[in-house]
Amino acid sequence: MENEYILQIKKLTKKYKKDTVLNELTVNVRKNTIYGLLGPNGAGKTTALKIISGLLKPTSGEVIFNGHKWSRTDLFYIGSLIEHAPLYGNLTAEENLDVITTILGLPKKRNLEVLEVVGLTDTGSKKVMNFSMGMKQRLGIALAMIHNPKLLILDEPTNGLDPIGIQELRQLISSFPKQGITVLLSSHMLSEVEHVADDIGIISNGVLGYEGKIDSSQDLETLFTEIVKKNRKQ
Ligand SMILES: Nc1ncnc2c1ncn2[C@@H]1O[C@H](COP(=O)(O)OP(=O)(O)OP(=O)(O)O)[C@@H](O)[C@H]1O
Ligand SMILES: [Mg+2]
Repeated sequence: MENEYILQIKKLTKKYKKDTVLNELTVNVRKNTIYGLLGPNGAGKTTALKIISGLLKPTSGEVIFNGHKWSRTDLFYIGSLIEHAPLYGNLTAEENLDVITTILGLPKKRNLEVLEVVGLTDTGSKKVMNFSMGMKQRLGIALAMIHNPKLLILDEPTNGLDPIGIQELRQLISSFPKQGITVLLSSHMLSEVEHVADDIGIISNGVLGYEGKIDSSQDLETLFTEIVKKNRKQ
């Protein structure tokens, strides 16, 4: 059978001196789905996403991308938006994208394609410093997907957005799997993930406490609270 998973994290551990931030974390992300990595502040979500994006090295364990051991060349197929999008405030949306398409040698028409995808075609000469939070977030997603990645990593994508912005972003994210893009997103808010994700993983104190399909009959809130309490630092 062809590989069911685009990404598998196996016993991933990250230590800072004596601090164990990820403790043998295991995550399985199925192709063309949306996976929500849930956990409270400080759980290790950003750390895990940075390792997959090649921004941090793990202490031990491995990342399997599309059936093989992750290597830097896989970043060709991985797009990520972690914490804040790296945007130039004094440039327009299109100019920001142009910086990357030029570096990567991508055709200029790709700028307009991704602006279309994220719904930012009408911002014209407006500079990014005058964008709303939601617009910046959309542009960050456009940047992350400029090279047509197979896996899109979004760290807390709805942070700072109003309810309408959250809904719009949710719609955008939901449209990705049918275009062949798998999404791995993180959040500390259950309500944000349960409406958009196919599968969830609950991480607390660097440990994966639960992984499975979203099931409407299940009381996720109770599960989330139990896992967080169980793994809390002693
Ligand atoms: N460079 C570092 N040195 C030491 N500890 C670090 C470092 N970076 C992160 N940590 C610690 O790792 C733990 C996990 O942090 P991380 O940012 O991955 O959590 P998170 O789940 O993304 O939290 P949040 O929801 O607040 O974004 C935290 O306790 C943090 O203090
Ligand atoms: Mg984080």
